[in-house]
Amino acid sequence: MNPLLERLHRYPFERLADLLAGVRPPADRYHIPMSIGEPKHQPPAFVGQALTSALDTLGTYPVAAGLAELREAMGDWLTRRFGLTAGSVDPDSMILPVNGTREGLFSFVQAAVDSTAGRLVMMPNPFYQIYEGAAILAGAEPCYLNTTAENDFLPDLDAVGDAEWQRCAVLFLCSPGNPTGAVMDEAYLRRAIELADRHDFIIASDECYADIYLDEDRPPTGLLQACHAVGREDYRRCVVFHSLSKRSSVPGLRSGFVAGDAAIIGSYRLYRTYHGCAVPLATQRASIPAWQDEAHVGTSRRLFQQKFDAVMPLLEGALDAHRPPAAFYLWARTPVEPETFTRRLFAEQHVTVLPGSYLSRVTRDGDPGADRIRISLVASVDECVAAAQRIRELCATL
Ligand SMILES: Cc1ncc(COP(=O)(O)O)c(C=O)c1O
Repeated sequence: MNPLLERLHRYPFERLADLLAGVRPPADRYHIPMSIGEPKHQPPAFVGQALTSALDTLGTYPVAAGLAELREAMGDWLTRRFGLTAGSVDPDSMILPVNGTREGLFSFVQAAVDSTAGRLVMMPNPFYQIYEGAAILAGAEPCYLNTTAENDFLPDLDAVGDAEWQRCAVLFLCSPGNPTGAVMDEAYLRRAIELADRHDFIIASDECYADIYLDEDRPPTGLLQACHAVGREDYRRCVVFHSLSKRSSVPGLRSGFVAGDAAIIGSYRLYRTYHGCAVPLATQRASIPAWQDEAHVGTSRRLFQQKFDAVMPLLEGALDAHRPPAAFYLWARTPVEPETFTRRLFAEQHVTVLPGSYLSRVTRDGDPGADRIRISLVASVDECVAAAQRIRELCATL
């Protein structure tokens, strides 16, 4: 088998299962899962209806490029959401549907990296672990850029030396960030674009939380928007990843897309033809109305805002947690070592969270996840409130 498989790290949730193995939570407390980033809001009924009314497509092979109507709906959404020039994202040459961004992020790196050239794939640390696994299996070396409170949870691009940038094939950005919720502004994204031009690498911007933000008046900026701001309407060296999983609470649908530089998307389409990961036609049909509708997204976003409003005051004085600008996570410091905290919270309160170090790597500048946990506010408002009260209860005993 491919020896690179041995270099993959265990997935965070396997490590969590080991940590909690054998622990018996109190039977009189129902379980509140806050470890997985799986939105639990009601999926929109019209998406389910579109899916079932497309079952007549099961007899037809989908093609890698996807349905023209779907790519058009995605392009229209990008244009509306990020204020792009209408028509600047050509749905035929600049957009490809993927089976959720997880699959897209992974396969993109396989297509983008020259595995014979000793290349780096740069990524934030902590991170979504697919970036790292994709880099390893593509024969590249992952390079971790720590995000800490000191750098506002954004990778310090100016701390990377020229020699490293020269080896960089792909820079992963994640904004809004998982697990920190940090958002990159236009100036930050423009700096990344300058570096990509100078050192000839691709920016892969994972924006799957773009529609989950806590201030209605401040939707997070996207990479294509930063391109637009500098008149770079060919989106050269830039690709963005978007998903319906968080936006429409349909993580089981497996639907997202990649968009940007036509030359990069063209090569990636060729790769996908061989990889055989075309999105099923029923999924594509169900995705069209989801990208066209904003009402259900606003309803879901307001629920996330309500959770933060309710939970933050309860956690004050218990955990060192700050309200992030976006996404649905709290990246909190714990009063005792995070694995101990996680185990006790499960054992005594039947609440599951994730130790931060399961999402991060130790670097020469330290481990940015070492003293934190990630709390996902994905359950109902009432359950999130109950969980915050239970966290308070535990903290009072520490
Ligand atoms: C940062 C980030 N990127 C990508 C994904 C994958 O999302 P999906 O494959 O459902 O689109 C996730 C899921 O949790 C995520 O947190």
